Amino acid sequence: MSEDIQLIVDGKRLDGRDFNELRPIKIEAGILKRADGSCYIEMGKNKVVAAVYGPREVHPRHLQDPSKAVVRYRYNMAPFSVEERKRPGPDRRSVEISKVSREAFEPVIMKELFPRSGIDIFVEVLQADAGTRTACINAATVALVDAGIPMKGLITSVAVAKADGVLVLDPMKEEDNYGEADVPFAFLIRNGKIESIALLQMDGRLSAEELKKATQMAKEGAMKIYELQREAIMKKYSSEEIEEQVI
Ligand code: CDP
Repeated sequence: MSEDIQLIVDGKRLDGRDFNELRPIKIEAGILKRADGSCYIEMGKNKVVAAVYGPREVHPRHLQDPSKAVVRYRYNMAPFSVEERKRPGPDRRSVEISKVSREAFEPVIMKELFPRSGIDIFVEVLQADAGTRTACINAATVALVDAGIPMKGLITSVAVAKADGVLVLDPMKEEDNYGEADVPFAFLIRNGKIESIALLQMDGRLSAEELKKATQMAKEGAMKIYELQREAIMKKYSSEEIEEQVI
């Protein structure tokens, strides 16, 4: 965190966005043949693929739970996804992101329907520009639906940062690196309504008032992303119907 670079110029962000504006988002469901469910997402310059497998047998077997499914989540950054080559393999950051993301999904997935089985969620960051954990969570949600995993709602994620003293939605790399705070959120959205917070982290400092405002901004942003997640799912299923008719 430093004040070296000016992040807000003439009331606009460096990429011309308003404070409460998301980056452009593109979501496509069902892009991988071999996975049970999959999704590709772009949030600004972030490019992410999610693949879901399961419910399936858990290996090693001692990890099985006789009462419910075990959910696993692996976040991974490709070595070429960042400016300085990322050393392949897990590191502290990816282990942390995997853990908090899994915890966001665990209460939503109806695990008790699949005792002894495993649901594996893999997210791969191909290109990173801040907010990769949020992009991955959004992709993972769509991939889970695509895999037909029963869930109590959808998880939708977006961050808010404080840059040059103002709160900005969906920060890009410069705002994340040089801003005063970065706060990723994920929400459980059920029947079109935000029901609870599934993930909340904070790097930096915000006042209680700012956190309240950031939460409101994130909720509004999440509802827009939720609509796009729904659209991607609907598109996949309607194209499947068309394919079936053609066959
Ligand atoms: O990506 P996210 O904002 O969820 O996590 P972060 O730890 O706040 O990382 C912010 C950004 O820093 C990433 O999105 C990447 O653009 C960048 N980064 C990097 O350049 N090299 C790394 N080894 C890790 C992150």
